[in-house]
Amino acid sequence: MPGGIDPHTHLETHFIYSDTVDDFFTGQAAALAGGTTMNINFAMPINGSLTAGFEDFAKKAKKSCMDYGFHMAITKWDEVVAKEMEIMVEKGINSFKFFLAYKPALMINDELLIRGMRKCKSLGALPMVHAENGDAIEEAAQMMIDLGITGPEGHALSRPPVLEGEATARAIRLAAFVNTPLYVVHVMSIDAMEEIARARQAGQRVIGEPIGAGLVLEESGIFDPDFTTAAKYLMSPPIRKAGHDKALQAALSTGVLQLVGSDHCSFNSTQKALGIDDFRKIPNGVNGIEERMHVVWDSMVESGLITPSDYVRITSTECARIFNIYPRKGAILAGSDADIIVLNPNASFEISAATQHRNSDTNAFEGISGKGKVEVTIAGGRVVWEGDELKVVPGSGRYIEMPPFSYLFNGIDKADAAYLSSLNAPVQRVKAVVA
Ligand code: URP
Ligand code: ZN
Ligand code: ZN
Repeated sequence: MPGGIDPHTHLETHFIYSDTVDDFFTGQAAALAGGTTMNINFAMPINGSLTAGFEDFAKKAKKSCMDYGFHMAITKWDEVVAKEMEIMVEKGINSFKFFLAYKPALMINDELLIRGMRKCKSLGALPMVHAENGDAIEEAAQMMIDLGITGPEGHALSRPPVLEGEATARAIRLAAFVNTPLYVVHVMSIDAMEEIARARQAGQRVIGEPIGAGLVLEESGIFDPDFTTAAKYLMSPPIRKAGHDKALQAALSTGVLQLVGSDHCSFNSTQKALGIDDFRKIPNGVNGIEERMHVVWDSMVESGLITPSDYVRITSTECARIFNIYPRKGAILAGSDADIIVLNPNASFEISAATQHRNSDTNAFEGISGKGKVEVTIAGGRVVWEGDELKVVPGSGRYIEMPPFSYLFNGIDKADAAYLSSLNAPVQRVKAVVA
């Protein structure tokens, strides 16, 4: 099959309180061992500067052993940022992420979101949203602390699905107002998924990305009385109660959601312990870059929910199409990049921090086993994983430029023209009355 493409990773990233533990080499080596042959990493601005952020990530990514691209986050707004977005697109970035949570570090307001979406649309770049209501979360988190709930469970209790549903609905409606496609990252709840389903049914171009952890884990881990165990499951939006996982799988199987990411944002237990007295200080994030392909095969193909062709679509091809690099990536065709995996459906895998191929002393998927193991990974025509052995060297991964105006933008200008002409008749009527 075509190698997996992971649309959502945070390698070598300073994220609010701490630096993620996997760098471009260790994270990508693990990805290759798990059947992924390209990742799209979130580059973060430095003091709001996209150019400085891009240069920083380009430098860090030089040690890559796997092909990669970047999304860029937008955390403030002014003319300089708007101009820098143009430069980012010239440099091969075609997607920008807006955080509707993480106050005060990263959260943006609706005004900035609208301005950002308009700019994205003019550039043919895809706006992405982290959809949770940051104001409500902050209030709820303070309420937890006042009640004496300081452990990791306070994180889950202060970020209920309704706040994910609200922010998802708001972002979708604002995208409709701007008439732009929208990508919702890490869809974790039925609430958010149903908003996406409604919008898509109405013809809106909204892409929904669930992640490995949301598809196969449920929230009990974060209520574990042992801090280290509970903290390893802490991420945003939180891993939900049992039932959300299966509903997200069903949505993927029917095309309501389109592709699977990992949101790999891994910290070790010492880093998580920064929040031992206050869950608000626990670095947010779980792993998944190595596990994504295996857990999706086992839970969805081995279980009979989807076919192997569906699997290729949701783990690889759809990602290549959305980010406009198909058929170079996401396909096995003459002229494509020869990123290929051999997955043996009769072999088994077992996940453990003790045997994973990356940094960190924990694994949120610890103890999970299943059928379907990636036995060979070929990246760019070279065998890089075979016989449980990695054959990787730093520097062999290439930066993949992603051009703007993917298929999601087809016909957008026609819809804009129709909207403008629909305004014409009422404006003429008002003018006639005034005259
Ligand atoms: O908890 C998470 N998801 N950490 C990574 C950053 C983000 O919001 O995607
Ligand atoms: Zn996010
Ligand atoms: Zn993320």
